[in-house]
Amino acid sequence: MSTSEEVYAASPLDPVETHRLVTENPAAGGAGDQTIDTSVFDQSIVDRAQAIIARYPQSRSALLPMLHLVQSVEGYVSQAGITFCADQLDLTNAEVSAVATFYTMYKRRPCGEHLVSVCTNTLCAALGGDEIYAKLRDHLGTDGKPLGHEETSGEPGTPGSITLEHAECLAACDLGPVLQVNYEYFDNQTPDGALDLVKSLQAGEKPQPTRGAPLTDFRQAELQLAGFFEGRDADLDGPSAAPETVRGAKIAAERGWTAPAMPEHAEFPPLPEKK
Ligand code: FES
Repeated sequence: MSTSEEVYAASPLDPVETHRLVTENPAAGGAGDQTIDTSVFDQSIVDRAQAIIARYPQSRSALLPMLHLVQSVEGYVSQAGITFCADQLDLTNAEVSAVATFYTMYKRRPCGEHLVSVCTNTLCAALGGDEIYAKLRDHLGTDGKPLGHEETSGEPGTPGSITLEHAECLAACDLGPVLQVNYEYFDNQTPDGALDLVKSLQAGEKPQPTRGAPLTDFRQAELQLAGFFEGRDADLDGPSAAPETVRGAKIAAERGWTAPAMPEHAEFPPLPEKK
């Protein structure tokens, strides 16, 4: 059997992912079901986890918001976070890992105070998204080395630290090129405007997004994604659609076009028994 050190040295994966595989997998020289310290998730987090689980007929359905809850505590999904979710939901670490590594919103390295996601999908890229990403990557890098995808400028979690990532289509093509900060939209960006935005984040400012809720930080946004708004429910009233986005609906209204009405009595399938 290989030692853990040999597995680390030979692995083509990044160190965090390799650590996960080694510690979970006895065949790779790890301890398998070794005890992992989850004490960072204190009673208040356990209470929130239980509140999330209570929303669903089957507890395993709570996994996605639970992973956001974990990220609100540590700024990423750590090995302790995976074990915490598995314990709360009566799943295996492997089942939780499979989900956490599938979705890009779950981060495997600690994030900065802010997560900046630049859309570099086709339309935004053609409209300037690639230049925006290059400008931010160069600005946030060190010693002439550009910042890499999902890397962080500054100490993760500390004020002014920024994690930069490429994003696939952010569903705002009519407003491209767009970027998001902690999943709030900044529309119709330019390379210089995006640079100013990031500089202001580094300086501790919180510029108003083009639409949606006021800016917070990554961990607070993750708490909201888990369904806890901490008195910020009114933020949901923020403008969520731009004039460009609703232009089609407006034209339809002007011309009297309508879609078929919903039936008055729609039959919904019965919910399964809660286990
Ligand atoms: S391509 Fe950027 S939002 Fe769709």
